[in-house]
Amino acid sequence: MNIANEAFEAKIAADSFIEPRDEMPEAYRKTLIRQISQHAHSEYVGMLPEGNWITRAPSLKRKAVLLAKVQDEAGHGLYLYSAAETLGITRDQMLEQLHDGTAKYSSIFNYPTLTWADMGAIGWLVDGAAIMNQVPLCRTSYGPYARAMIRVCKEESFHQRQGFEAIMRLAQGTEVQKKMAQDALNRWWWPSLMMFGPPDDHSPNTEQSMRWKIKRFTNDELRQKFIDVTVEQAKFLGLTVPDPDLKWNEERGHYDYGVIDWNEFWNVVKGNGPCNRERLEMRRNAWDSGAWVREAALAHSQKRAARKEAQPQALAGATA
Ligand SMILES: [Fe+2]
Ligand SMILES: [Fe+2]
Repeated sequence: MNIANEAFEAKIAADSFIEPRDEMPEAYRKTLIRQISQHAHSEYVGMLPEGNWITRAPSLKRKAVLLAKVQDEAGHGLYLYSAAETLGITRDQMLEQLHDGTAKYSSIFNYPTLTWADMGAIGWLVDGAAIMNQVPLCRTSYGPYARAMIRVCKEESFHQRQGFEAIMRLAQGTEVQKKMAQDALNRWWWPSLMMFGPPDDHSPNTEQSMRWKIKRFTNDELRQKFIDVTVEQAKFLGLTVPDPDLKWNEERGHYDYGVIDWNEFWNVVKGNGPCNRERLEMRRNAWDSGAWVREAALAHSQKRAARKEAQPQALAGATA
């Protein structure tokens, strides 16, 4: 092992953060770029299914809450793109990879949002699953990623609560509203479990990522944690989790659950989910139609920089 690698391994062993200027193995850098950019893309594409309901929110309060939540997701994308940029990739490059399909984002956002109850189910389940995934990332070994996660997690907790509260109102409402809530749970339950990624014995990157302390828990550990917490919440809501095999296992101290349809998962990952094409098209269009904004912002900042550069000379001239 060379000296640079030794320093890296020593930092990992001591639970210190790796910082952008530190030496790091190329594979560590690549893994992080893939993970952080994928995470950033998920925040960005994740705005689309909920953005779909902003104009149709049932009250002013709900509209304000949903708008704030969707804006938070844009902010998460920005922190994460910035964190990834410290590893030597540009935001334009990352977006290019998203638009040409080489970069992935969380498959959950390729499912449609059919009713208002879906806004509740997404906050409750999807943001709930995101918290399970992201809280351990506050201690991930790459400093900029870990620090970005601290604020992200605080905001995710608001997202989860607003979703839970929205679905609770429906679950405690009229028969029709309760049916809407149940239908949303039926459709979002299994895709939410898939958010934790393939089972540990089919997750090729897990072992190395655990060794580098990028990942702190395995996919199956996090999935189990999510199920144990969420099943109790569903009971409180008076809703039924759509899994006939769900059963408390006294011995394990966890819920046993039914078989996840991994064929469906891989099919959506490969681009054949219900909304893959629509989502990517929306992102590409947003990129193209926003070109003039980027150009204007760039021209403005160049003008400001030029003015600033000219200023000290002008001042020096005035005092001479
Ligand atoms: Fe987020
Ligand atoms: Fe969120």
